[in-house]
Amino acid sequence: MPSNIKILPSGRNFPSEGNLTLLEAGLHSGLALGYGCSNGNCGECLAKIVSGEVQQVRHHDYMISEEKRSTGHVLMCCNSAVTDIILEAPEAQSSKEIPRQHITAKVRNIEFVNDDVALLHLKTPRTQRLRFLAGQQVQLGGTDFPTATFPISSCPCDDMNLHFQIPRLKDDEFSDFVFNHLKKGSLIDINGPEGDFVFDESSNRSLVFIAWHTGFAPVRSLIEHVMALEVANSMHLIWVAPSMKDRYQDNLCRSWQDAFENFHYLPINAQPGDGTVSTTSTLELLGIEPVDLDTYDFYIAGPDTFINAYDQNPRWRFATIPPAAANKA
Ligand code: FES
Repeated sequence: MPSNIKILPSGRNFPSEGNLTLLEAGLHSGLALGYGCSNGNCGECLAKIVSGEVQQVRHHDYMISEEKRSTGHVLMCCNSAVTDIILEAPEAQSSKEIPRQHITAKVRNIEFVNDDVALLHLKTPRTQRLRFLAGQQVQLGGTDFPTATFPISSCPCDDMNLHFQIPRLKDDEFSDFVFNHLKKGSLIDINGPEGDFVFDESSNRSLVFIAWHTGFAPVRSLIEHVMALEVANSMHLIWVAPSMKDRYQDNLCRSWQDAFENFHYLPINAQPGDGTVSTTSTLELLGIEPVDLDTYDFYIAGPDTFINAYDQNPRWRFATIPPAAANKA
């Protein structure tokens, strides 16, 4: 039977089972816990056990001071729960609290899902993972190849396996490198994360995610994060692309719709800026009365021509797809 972990001061709860560390269990449940190395070296995951029992499951080199030890402090990345636990632990409240990191990761796989999109899977070293919030982006590059900024399409709950959705673009060095030269096993530098296209956890409004083509990448990260948090918000996803084949993860979206009663998927064929999608047309499609708009949060990702068709409501969050990706339009 899983133990229940309650984090103070936020009061959030999450389950933990087996030898999962407190940190791993918290990340899997979508919490933005404070940590650094994940490996017992930096001390940044130090947390105070208020009640309950833990056991050390990993060696750590970080020396916990006698004072901290005597007041019940443990490293979350090296201990797992034996009983239900109440824990005082830091959680990031905004993207400003996530430090910029530099990591060299290895290309685990490149999958060309169609002629225009490559799914890039990078794996970080076990001792140097990327701490980020769902929806953020990083700069990718290397000594022998060009640099570009792309949103991470995977969930922060797996901080070693980072996924990206790279469009094929004319006259773009990074795209050309990924499609024609990059090999499995190559090393890529990651700098970041950055960006405020992140989930507003203080909100209990219904969620509307709208993506143009590879704008689906940060939207996918956000949706998987919201699912991990198990918040009750209803979710609508509108994925706009020129044609059916450009929605390269359409089956995934349909499987979310089948699995979650409160998840609704709407694929639309259109070009950005052609007038098909706008605030008005989206409200009509979703059956939302303008008067009820305050009960929804919108997250919109695409090139400027796509984003500009929507009201610039200060509460809504926008991600401009990096210039290279926007050129696709
Ligand atoms: S995250 Fe560095 S010691 Fe736990």
